[in-house]
Amino acid sequence: MTDDDRTRTVRQYRRFAEVEAVDTSPLYAELAAAVAGDEELLDFLLALPAPKRQPNLLFAAVTFLHGTPRGPAELRGRVRDDGERVRATMLARFTQTNEPGRCAALVTALGAVEGPVGLIEVGSAAGLCLYPDRYSYDFDGRFVGRRSAVHLTCSTTGPVPVPDDVPEVVARVGVDRNPLDPADAGDQAWLRALIWPGPSEGARLDRLAAAAELAAQEPPTVLRGDLVDRLPEALALLPAGCTPVVFHTAVLMYLERARREEFVALVRSLEVRWIAQEMPGVLPGAAGSVGAPGRFVLALDGRPLAVTAPHGGRIDWLTGG
Ligand SMILES: C[S@@+](CC[C@H](N)C(=O)[O-])C[C@H]1O[C@@H](n2cnc3c(N)ncnc32)[C@H](O)[C@@H]1O
Repeated sequence: MTDDDRTRTVRQYRRFAEVEAVDTSPLYAELAAAVAGDEELLDFLLALPAPKRQPNLLFAAVTFLHGTPRGPAELRGRVRDDGERVRATMLARFTQTNEPGRCAALVTALGAVEGPVGLIEVGSAAGLCLYPDRYSYDFDGRFVGRRSAVHLTCSTTGPVPVPDDVPEVVARVGVDRNPLDPADAGDQAWLRALIWPGPSEGARLDRLAAAAELAAQEPPTVLRGDLVDRLPEALALLPAGCTPVVFHTAVLMYLERARREEFVALVRSLEVRWIAQEMPGVLPGAAGSVGAPGRFVLALDGRPLAVTAPHGGRIDWLTGG
């Protein structure tokens, strides 16, 4: 462990407090700010491999084992008293937040793709974003799809091309290095623990449960492994006569820059449409230079279309998007 590691971890937690959680989870913002200034908690984190030090993973592990800590003192107490289990959970699990709310942005981009479509989601977690056709939507009072148990409300600015209907999906294939099973109680509990406490927590928990039930009834085909390695196989699973669409949301930040570039070069070499919804600066190419801190960028075939709320619920269409 080096001083640089400590500084990087402090910066990571401060950024989480000041940018990522500040608007949506005041409690997690408070916890992250406390971790950044707590030598004991930093020592605990620094004993873990670097990719396992993320705020999301620490808070989810504590929540999974003990419920949401009500403040910094409770977080410290949990880690002090039950550090071994918190550590084991952080090592065994990954940040795999699966947010069906991201499908609202997805359907606006899919509206520009000729159907029927075959969907390939890389970084699919439990596959809950593979059902945009099974969900219903309310874009500022413009309704799309037949009312579903997963009903997504989304506010918009700019000329969002709200589609007349949900896309026709004829195949769904996921790729994930650690697929989660939407029917498994343990995986469901982990997905619940990944939802941040805050004003939208209740709605997010409800739609997670509804989407998991739907996915469990009609599970997608999921390939286990790395998204670059397995994408060609995933593509080969799609039936003839559909437009292949490769998409990913909140995934590429887990890849090294060089690997992201490899992925983008691969996607561009395939005859597919490509939809990305990622943090600003993550996507190689034009879409990487668009966005705002704490927001995502929605892009179609590498062209930025909109800035979106990371857990869904808002789309700001870009001029010329
Ligand atoms: C934050 S989750 C997002 C899940 C889903 N796309 C969503 O938006 O709800 C990121 C997912 O990407 C997966 N992942 C990360 N790196 C990967 C890689 N190199 N290959 C395959 N999957 C990966 C993780 O296992 C995790 O399930």
